[in-house]
Amino acid sequence: MTNPTPRAPLLPGWLVLSLAILLALGLGMLASSINQRRVEARLVRVQFMQPLDPEEVSPERWNRSFPRQTLAWQSSRDPAGAPAFLYEQVRDYLVERPRLAVLWAGFPFARAWKWPRSHVHSVEDVRGTPRIDEETPAACWACKSSDAPRLMAREGLSAYYARDFEPHKPEATHAIACLDCHAPETMDLRVTRPALKEAFRRQGKDLETASLQEMRSLVCAQCHVEYYFKGKKENHLTHPWDEGLTPEAFEAYYARVGHVDWIHPVSGARMLKMQHPDYELSHKGPHAQAGISCADCHMPYIAEGSARVTDHSMRSPSRNLLAACQVCHPWSEAELFDSIVQPQRATRLAREQAEKVLVAAHLEIGDAARHGATDAELEEVRDLLSRAQLSWDYVASANSQGFHAPEEALRILGRSLDLAGQCRQRTREIRAARGRREPVPIPDLSTKAKAQAFIKPYEESARATAP
Ligand code: HEC
Ligand code: HEC
Ligand code: HEC
Ligand code: HEC
Repeated sequence: MTNPTPRAPLLPGWLVLSLAILLALGLGMLASSINQRRVEARLVRVQFMQPLDPEEVSPERWNRSFPRQTLAWQSSRDPAGAPAFLYEQVRDYLVERPRLAVLWAGFPFARAWKWPRSHVHSVEDVRGTPRIDEETPAACWACKSSDAPRLMAREGLSAYYARDFEPHKPEATHAIACLDCHAPETMDLRVTRPALKEAFRRQGKDLETASLQEMRSLVCAQCHVEYYFKGKKENHLTHPWDEGLTPEAFEAYYARVGHVDWIHPVSGARMLKMQHPDYELSHKGPHAQAGISCADCHMPYIAEGSARVTDHSMRSPSRNLLAACQVCHPWSEAELFDSIVQPQRATRLAREQAEKVLVAAHLEIGDAARHGATDAELEEVRDLLSRAQLSWDYVASANSQGFHAPEEALRILGRSLDLAGQCRQRTREIRAARGRREPVPIPDLSTKAKAQAFIKPYEESARATAP
């Protein structure tokens, strides 16, 4: 046996070790270079910013240290400056889709629903909408005004929620702005709305441990979500997320807690109104699944002279596709535009189909009730209709018209059509048993005025018989 002669290594051990260390350091630095730059930028910011009051609502004060972001925020103001309910250029959904008035009959949305405007307009628009009435709770300010968190803290959360919208008018004057998403001491992103914190806590999740990338969506999830007011007197603003974020999960949640928003005056179904589940619907989309945040598209980086800042105008990415999308997709502007419009078209077709079918279902159940069908007989079909409409509304009320999650939007609309189809089949049998075999005539719903005139007598008689 001979001992193998040790071969001289190609590289001396110390060199291999040093190279390995350098490589590891280099990779680590590359991976964290973005974060590194952020940390440095943050240090510079905190060092040089003018001190802000912890409750500083006025963007003019923030402007002293952050003029670029403030200017962009202000730049999203519409030129005419009129409130949305007067501002004719703002698209009126009820004019475009009069059937919505029938679907939401008996609920404030049948009176008015317009395209959203930018954050600078949030206070004037909520003050002006015909949806506000003497029953509107204080909770409505939560997503409209930077003053809301201060008022909640001062009055105590439960006391605040239990009050009405009206008494807070003199103090809720500042639109959504800096204080809503940033800590004034450090400029770190933060969640200021209690409902989001509570929803996380109930699911056993901790907002404090959310990553920066998650925070770049969670600041938006304070408002761009589904919510309801829990308790007739308490009106506690609550996100129904305990069973998940899909329409099926919301259905299960609301059934468990026994909440309904209103009774439909035409069909008698117990209805739930979806608000604007942007965060929830987009959650199932290709972008959120790939870890992309709301801010990645709605607040892209833009060059400002030598600086690279986050665009604080926060509008539709269609206004600046190159900044919003080309960082990741090497497509032309026309291709990008097309990639938005295509799924929107598909969503619209399915959504309009669902709207027609849902209107027919309300009318048919109403007809069955008028001709002697009992509440017990109609319970099943009313329940099917309520679930069908919840699914449709989840897509219809979310912004982006399907772009955020194209496949999921179509799946949900398909579910709505399926449930509505089952409902109509059963209703047909119930009507036939009472000799009602003719189709129920659909009234002329070609304009907002006609649709609202059609529902008026139903709404009035429902009010007259309300307990
Ligand atoms: C709806 C939430 C939201 C509002 C309102 C908001 N910001 Fe921001 N802001 C962000 C997000 C998200 C970022 C990106 C943070 C990151 O990725 O580090 C950001 C970043 C910043 C930065 C860091 C530099 C930069 O441009 O990336 C500054 C400074 C800033 N915002 C100032 C302001 C000021 C001033 C206002 C009010 C006029 C304001 N922000 C309003 C969400 C918001
Ligand atoms: C405090 C509540 C609140 C927060 C936080 C918030 N939004 Fe909004 N957002 C609103 C409201 C309310 C409107 C509609 C305002 C109106 O129509 O007057 C709106 C409107 C918008 C619009 C429509 C703007 C336009 O010009 O068409 C976009 C886009 C938008 N928000 C995106 C975001 C993104 C992205 C975030 C997070 C970075 C965010 N919002 C955070 C409440 C909020
Ligand atoms: C991949 C990019 C992308 C991401 C990520 C994204 N959005 Fe959007 N969003 C869009 C596009 C595109 C539209 C449709 C714009 C249009 O029709 O003009 C849109 C529309 C909207 C609108 C309606 C704006 C208007 O003027 O009609 C709101 C509000 C909104 N998104 C909020 C959010 C929120 C909140 C998140 C995160 C939960 C989010 N978006 C994530 C691209 C994105
Ligand atoms: C931060 C990176 C990023 C940004 C910004 C971004 N995307 Fe994407 N996009 C992705 C990723 C990742 C996917 C998922 C790809 C996959 O799963 O194959 C995707 C998927 C898509 C898809 C569907 C899949 C496909 O390849 O056809 C479309 C359409 C799309 N993006 C359009 C847009 C548009 C329009 C914008 C701007 C409003 C945008 N994206 C912004 C990263 C991004």
